[in-house]
Amino acid sequence: MKIAVLGTGNLGVSIIKGLLQSQESYQIIATRRNTQNIAFLKEEGVAVMQDNHQAIQQSDVVIVSLKPFNILEILKSHQDSFSADKIVVSMATGVSIDQIREAIGCQNINIMRAMPNTASGVGESLTCLVYNGVDKDKLELVTTLLSHMGKVIQVNEDLMEAATVLGACGLAFVFRFMRAMVQGGIQIGFDAQTAVQIVNQTVKGAAELLIQNKNHPEQEIDKVTTPKGCTIVGLNEMEHQGFSASLIKGINASFQKIEKKS
Ligand SMILES: NC(=O)c1ccc[n+]([C@@H]2O[C@H](COP(=O)([O-])OP(=O)(O)OC[C@H]3O[C@@H](n4cnc5c(N)ncnc54)[C@H](OP(=O)(O)O)[C@@H]3O)[C@@H](O)[C@H]2O)c1
Repeated sequence: MKIAVLGTGNLGVSIIKGLLQSQESYQIIATRRNTQNIAFLKEEGVAVMQDNHQAIQQSDVVIVSLKPFNILEILKSHQDSFSADKIVVSMATGVSIDQIREAIGCQNINIMRAMPNTASGVGESLTCLVYNGVDKDKLELVTTLLSHMGKVIQVNEDLMEAATVLGACGLAFVFRFMRAMVQGGIQIGFDAQTAVQIVNQTVKGAAELLIQNKNHPEQEIDKVTTPKGCTIVGLNEMEHQGFSASLIKGINASFQKIEKKS
């Protein structure tokens, strides 16, 4: 199968890394204007080019990871490259399937929206997928493709902005939390490298506990909070300082920002 990634920036590179890690022999084409920035992909067998037209024409699946501000204009300028047998998967935030269809100008082409995150590159993304009326076999094909990058769940299109905030921006929120943990760890005695090692594995362990035990976080918190112990003292102090409130407010602020744009 031939896959084109249009707009191979941060997300596009993560997606290609995810595809390369699979055992499948996909033929991948990556486009962007400054191709020297992705020249390293050539060593992995990826065809790197500036020419979106050629990339679309030569592909079965066109993954579009262009920015929301230029995706429609670029797709519109390549209308003649698209045909009904291709599948288009847009990763752009806040750009609807209807807008993409109008830009492409091909009514019966299969278009899906996917919202992965940059953990795609290590096969650990959570990708929300929207498919409005696409052929079942095309849906299965795209789900398989995205599965190489992590887990895939299907959502309604009206939840895509929320999916962006929780899943894609969510990575940055977790990283900031982890950075604060590291800083705290250094203050209480660890060197930075050791603190990072402890925090990384602790966060990974916490996620695995929730995933494998299928528990709510509070149930796992109960297991590590001894009455009158140091954990509950730390947790309560964090809450007094607005820990949960600031996270929830941040998530809402990100959501409001996307809502205003779309
Ligand atoms: N980053 C994330 O975590 C994430 C997660 C989910 C969804 N998204 C969505 O994914 C999209 C890409 O995000 P990103 O963070 O990867 O942005 P990015 O790093 O800026 O990537 C966009 C790429 O598009 C290229 N580009 C611009 N004009 C082009 C053209 N005419 N033809 C071909 N390529 C062109 C740019 O490279 P040149 O300037 O060299 O052309 C750039 O590398 C956005 O719509 C975003 O909403 C991102």
